[in-house]
Amino acid sequence: MTLPIILDCDPGIDDAFSLAMALASDKLTILGVTTTYGNVGLDQTTNNALRILDWFGSDIPVFAGVDRPLLAETVDAAAYHGETGLEAPELAQPTSKKQPLDAVSFLIDTLRSTDRKITLVASGPLTNLAIVLRLAPDVIENIEQIVFMGGSTDYGNDSPAAEFNMLCDPHAAQIVLSADVPKIMFGLNVTHQVIATPERVQMLRDIGNDTGRVFADMSVFFEKVYREIYGFSGSALHDPCTIAWLLKPDLFEMRKMRVDVDTNSGISFGRTVHDIWNIGKKGCHTDVALNADADGFFVLLRDLLAALR
Ligand code: BDR
Ligand code: CA
Repeated sequence: MTLPIILDCDPGIDDAFSLAMALASDKLTILGVTTTYGNVGLDQTTNNALRILDWFGSDIPVFAGVDRPLLAETVDAAAYHGETGLEAPELAQPTSKKQPLDAVSFLIDTLRSTDRKITLVASGPLTNLAIVLRLAPDVIENIEQIVFMGGSTDYGNDSPAAEFNMLCDPHAAQIVLSADVPKIMFGLNVTHQVIATPERVQMLRDIGNDTGRVFADMSVFFEKVYREIYGFSGSALHDPCTIAWLLKPDLFEMRKMRVDVDTNSGISFGRTVHDIWNIGKKGCHTDVALNADADGFFVLLRDLLAALR
């Protein structure tokens, strides 16, 4: 039996990798893709999700979500992902349309009507999920787990302290982290270990199919940004760590701890705070990825992309 998932995302180059990996795996069933503002605006992230799915010939439905944070000022990541959020000229404009239903309603309806618990995979700001949890707290019993990319046990990337997805909507993130469901976190401390170096990008190109070539090209655009801004040897594949963990959990070393998000204005706004020794005696409710087997990740990525067009 496959694992039913809903992907909540803001594509985004690394979100596109996540989507491709999930599509390729026969262990996952994507019930729907919900979009959020984030890397670029909501219309663009929704368009990008449709572009990716159309290119793969998939008819998985796309539902557009919320277009702004609950309270925080809007930030975007066009500097990292390009003005369109997805610098992939080969991915044509979509012919498919987003669904008339909004993402929050889709999530609530689907979670209420399912006879199997559903895994939510989030790779953008957590606004949609926070609204779902507030509007329909009863759906919690049908959420298997929330697997998300965001935060960091060390430094930030969009402020000295905060990671981008958390900084976009710290209040929403805190609502999600307080929910009584299993939560699995992939923060910068681990995603910065998963670097698409030129050799690894070449490995994707060497697959020899359209997907390997297009995704290698996307990595090159992303890589330039990571070299210029952070001095890395390639781009960090943040979001696909979530899918990699679902498929091959032993690629990651995890530790359970309490995680909160700083919602106070100031230099740490949006920072995740990790009580690794349970000092606050409030319990350990989140599995946090600490280390990754990056070579193993890229072998998995290569094998999955090889199964696509
Ligand atoms: C996160 O921010 C976005 O730019 C990426 O898609 C990823 O979800 C990394 O901080
Ligand atoms: Ca993302």
